[in-house]
Amino acid sequence: MKVLGGLSAQSFLSQYWQKAPLLVRSALPDPSDLIGGDDLAGLATEEAVESRLVTANDWRLRHGPFFEDDFANLPERDWTLLVQAVDHWVPEIAALFDHFRFIPTWRFDDIMLSYSVPGGGVGPHFDQYDVFLIQLSGQREWRIGQTCTEADDCRDDTELNILAQFDEQERWVLEPGDMLYVPPGVAHWGTAISEGITCSIGFRAPSRAEIWSEFAHFMAERDVEFERYADPDLNARTDPNAITSADLDRVQARLREMIEDRDALSLWFGRYMTEPKYSDIASDEPDFSDADIQQQLQVQPLMRNRAARLAYVPGWLFVQGQAVATELNEKQLQWLCNQQELTADSLSDGLDGVPFSLLSELVRKDVFYFEDGEESWV
Ligand code: SIN
Ligand code: CO
Repeated sequence: MKVLGGLSAQSFLSQYWQKAPLLVRSALPDPSDLIGGDDLAGLATEEAVESRLVTANDWRLRHGPFFEDDFANLPERDWTLLVQAVDHWVPEIAALFDHFRFIPTWRFDDIMLSYSVPGGGVGPHFDQYDVFLIQLSGQREWRIGQTCTEADDCRDDTELNILAQFDEQERWVLEPGDMLYVPPGVAHWGTAISEGITCSIGFRAPSRAEIWSEFAHFMAERDVEFERYADPDLNARTDPNAITSADLDRVQARLREMIEDRDALSLWFGRYMTEPKYSDIASDEPDFSDADIQQQLQVQPLMRNRAARLAYVPGWLFVQGQAVATELNEKQLQWLCNQQELTADSLSDGLDGVPFSLLSELVRKDVFYFEDGEESWV
C-alpha cells in the first residue's frame, strides 16, 4: 500500500502496529490544499468544536472556543492551534480515514489537526493511543524518544503532559505528504520548522478499567433484582464469621456467568465502541417516515455522514452507541456499512428487499442524510 510505503497492510500490522514507529515518505500525494490555517482558526471559534492553543516558549495551554482577536494578537513564532475531530466538520479530512480501513473502523477515534508557526508544538510527550501523523503542509521536525511507562515523570510546571526527560532515538523533518506512525507509549516531539498543518489520526483503545466498569455498568442495567447470591447448598457452619472458599466460589461463578456471556459482551462492546465522540451534537435532520425515505430516494441519494460510527455482529447493527436488531445477513451488513452513498438502485442491488424502516432509523440517527438543495418535499 502506498500509504504504508509499499508495505502490505498485513506486514505493517505484524511488524509495526503497536510495536515500532514507522516513517513513510510521500505516503499521500501532496495534501497541502486539503485545508488551510484560516479554516482551522474558523473552526476554533465554534462552540461545538474542541480546540486548544499551546505556546511553546512557556508551555501555556488555553482552551477554545477562541475569538478572532485571539489569533490576531499572536506572535510570529512558537505557538500551535490544535483542533479536535476535524473529520466531523470537513468531509475531505474525514476521507483520510479511508487509507486506514485495514484497521477496524470502530478503532478510529478522530482526526486532530494542528496548525503551527515556526517553533510551535506541544512538546515531548507520549500518547496512550496509536497515531498516524501526516504532514499536510509546511515542514515539521519529529523526534522519537524512549518507550514510556507510568514511571516516566511529567514536568510539574505546566498543565500539559510534557515529559521531564526525553531520550532522543531518531529525528526526521516531515514534508507535505510524509507520514509517521507512532505506537502507544512511544515518546515523540514535533516542532514546526515552517508554518504548516499536521494531521493526527487517532484511535480508540479503552483502558482495562474502562472495559471493566463500562461492561459492569451495562450488565448491572440489564440484570434483574432477584438474580441474587444464592447458597441452596449451604452447610452448617462451625465458625459463622468465616468467608470460606466455597462462598467465594459461588460469587466467582456468578461473575464468570456474566463475563462468559458472549451475547451480552458483543452487545455491550458494539454499543460502546460506536459511541459518538461528542454525543451532544444534535442532528438537525427532520424526521422521515419509511414512505418519505422511499419517495425521496427517487429524487436524490442518501449520503453517509462520515463521522457516524457503525459496526455489526450477526443480528445487530451498532449505530452511534445504540444496537439495532436486524435481519440483514452479514454480507448485507458489510455492504451497508461500507456505502458512502445510497441510491434507490444501489439499495435494491445491495440489500435484497430494502428495509426502509432500518433506513429511516439510520437517517434519524444521522448516519445517512439527504443533501439540501434537491427538489423534493411537496
Ligand atoms: C501535534 O500535532 O503537534 C501533536 C500531535 C501529537 O503529538 O500527537
Ligand atoms: Co502525540
